[in-house]
Amino acid sequence: MIKNFAARLIGWQKDHGRHGLPWQGTTDPYRVWLSEIMLQQTQVTTVIPYYERFLVRFPTLAHLAAAALEDVLSLWSGLGYYARARNLHACALQIRQNHGGEFPNTIEAIAQLPGIGRSTAHAIAVFCFHAKVPILDGNVRRLLSRIQGSDTAEKHLWKMAADLLPDREVDTYIQAQMDMGSLICTRTSPRCECCPVADMCVAYRDGLETSLPSPRPKKQRPVRAVTMLVLRNRDGVWLMQRPPSGLWGGLLSLPELPEGESAADHCIQTLGLRIETPRPAPTLIHDFTHFRWVIQPLICTAIPVWQAVAPPLRWVAESDLMQAALPSAIRKILNA
Ligand code: ADE
Repeated sequence: MIKNFAARLIGWQKDHGRHGLPWQGTTDPYRVWLSEIMLQQTQVTTVIPYYERFLVRFPTLAHLAAAALEDVLSLWSGLGYYARARNLHACALQIRQNHGGEFPNTIEAIAQLPGIGRSTAHAIAVFCFHAKVPILDGNVRRLLSRIQGSDTAEKHLWKMAADLLPDREVDTYIQAQMDMGSLICTRTSPRCECCPVADMCVAYRDGLETSLPSPRPKKQRPVRAVTMLVLRNRDGVWLMQRPPSGLWGGLLSLPELPEGESAADHCIQTLGLRIETPRPAPTLIHDFTHFRWVIQPLICTAIPVWQAVAPPLRWVAESDLMQAALPSAIRKILNA
């Protein structure tokens, strides 16, 4: 029954799948890799302009390896999950160091690079190096769980994905699975009436398509409150570069007010700024994977009183904010 699965998907991809996406029609592993990383937690329509801007600025792996991390982060600003951008940069350096600047062409070597898991390594190998290997990202996991009508262990799904691989046109087949996942076999409202394999789908037969795969139990995110200082000067704002790893690592952000300290004392003693007229702005909620941040912005006029303001505090002119490596939550606060 499931024998024609790949052939049906391939046929469907040709007629109804996505063609002409900016990372299709190339076998340059740099371009394919970049697209796969950007698409990991982000939708195609959001990714496209970021992808194009990134390639204008860094057209090759060598350009990326030569870049400052902050410039990479600034092009990533707004895409979120910034570890992806830090890993991307680390990858480029590693490839320059260990592979003579050539993107490696074996699955084993690709999968050893920072930020590249098994499924991403396989996708790159299929699209660039004619490999015949399955992928198992969120879309494929959902598709296969529904076809077989049950949740199963990761190991089993990998085996199922491998068993279903066609002998030919593997790249079209892999693209079909991605496209099916985002166009047909979607999480909340699958379009089973348009699905080329609905008659093979146990979930569809049993009316379980929206209950599979079972959602992971939702953990309550702990909530943390933070006060952030919007320290303005005539034509700009004081920003702080965050430490290279961890939350928003390497990005610019607003200085945080340590709990229990007064804004005026903190600013003068630690930052070297005298503040005037502090006033709170509306709070903003930002969800990270592991907690929710409730951000209370405190807007102040700030005047430097020391010779040197404490690094990594940095004054950024309003006209440079657009280009700055800022997380979107901070951008929102500054725009308001
Ligand atoms: N999601 C992950 N990889 C993709 C690709 N190559 N095309 C479309 N969506 C994707």
